[in-house]
Amino acid sequence: MERFTFIASCIFGLESVTAGELRRIGAEDVRAFDGRVEFSGGEEMLARANLHLRTAERVLVKLGEFPAATFTELFDGVKSLPLERFIGKKDAFPVKGHTVKSALHSIPDCQKIVKKAAVDRLSSVYGVNWFEETGPVHPLQFLIIKDRAILSMDTSGAPLHKRGYRKNSLIAPIKETLAAGILDLSRVKGDSLLYDPFCGSGTFLIEGALRALRIPPGINRRFGAQDYACFSKDIWRKERERGIEEVNREGTFRAYGSDISGDAVALTRENAKKAGVSSRIIAEQKDIGQFLMPEKGMVVCNPPYGERLLDQNSARKLYTEMGKRFSYGDGKSLSIITPDEAFEEYFGHKASKKRKLYNGMIRCVLYLYF
Ligand SMILES: C[S@@+](CC[C@H](N)C(=O)[O-])C[C@H]1O[C@@H](n2cnc3c(N)ncnc32)[C@H](O)[C@@H]1O
Repeated sequence: MERFTFIASCIFGLESVTAGELRRIGAEDVRAFDGRVEFSGGEEMLARANLHLRTAERVLVKLGEFPAATFTELFDGVKSLPLERFIGKKDAFPVKGHTVKSALHSIPDCQKIVKKAAVDRLSSVYGVNWFEETGPVHPLQFLIIKDRAILSMDTSGAPLHKRGYRKNSLIAPIKETLAAGILDLSRVKGDSLLYDPFCGSGTFLIEGALRALRIPPGINRRFGAQDYACFSKDIWRKERERGIEEVNREGTFRAYGSDISGDAVALTRENAKKAGVSSRIIAEQKDIGQFLMPEKGMVVCNPPYGERLLDQNSARKLYTEMGKRFSYGDGKSLSIITPDEAFEEYFGHKASKKRKLYNGMIRCVLYLYF
């Protein structure tokens, strides 16, 4: 059986969580790097990773790694890779990428060189010097770190945080992949009770339910590589069937959300319905001032940020209110993510553990209390 090296790109700070997910789905040679996890397996692993990973942004096939301190090295490195194994005569192969701490730092120039080398390689194999690029899109991605290049090909298409259940909204929603990572770190299980008193569009509640019921996050969407001729079409059907068999609705998981905004509550309900988990989620309109800490369960939330939804003073007043209402220990835990580094001061409790995570470009801290 042909084996491949794959890359799961992920949010900075979640690499160990993504690596854990990969081990649980049977990936081999799992190795974490900054913002990505490499692993290996057969082509079925490609479909499995796309369907099952809750915290990965994309799954890519690693085509090769080589020194690239100069444009000549970059060109020769790309040209030496067996691109024709993956890219057909009519396929489109746009190039994107980035460079970090490397002599080659102009991204547009690197893009041009990678494209030229790929065209050169494929021209000599297919005997043409003009590519129509009218077929399925096979995006090539380069990453040059400290003068070494990695060339890979995307297989996800739309990024994996797009599960297909969330409507765009004016609320500042947390990314689904980040929410899933926080829920993993909070150890949500099939019988957990989850509370989010700032539920917004319901991301924590829905991701929590999908995780608790073992519903694959990608079950309702398509992936770019489903259209690729280089992989068997059968892997997608088989892995979807396998994923559906693993769903387990026996646990007693329940999620309770509230938000000061009636529109947010309506959105949570609508999104939960689309995700197929509305029977596990209750959402109501409520100010944090009315929140009563349950006897057991976990609170997971991202309260409004100073810079995005509320001015900093009002946000900090909310943290003080939360500090009075929330409690932890004895079957209760709290996971709160915010970019406010003075959070503990206003909340009034020192975290049991802290973890740096990125919400888009915003550096945040996850405060864990247990
Ligand atoms: C950063 S958003 C949470 C986003 C949510 N995690 C999601 O994925 O959509 C903060 C939410 O807090 C709500 N909010 C603001 N002030 C509140 C208050 N005093 N009580 C309860 N909710 C409040 C806002 O309406 C907003 O939906």
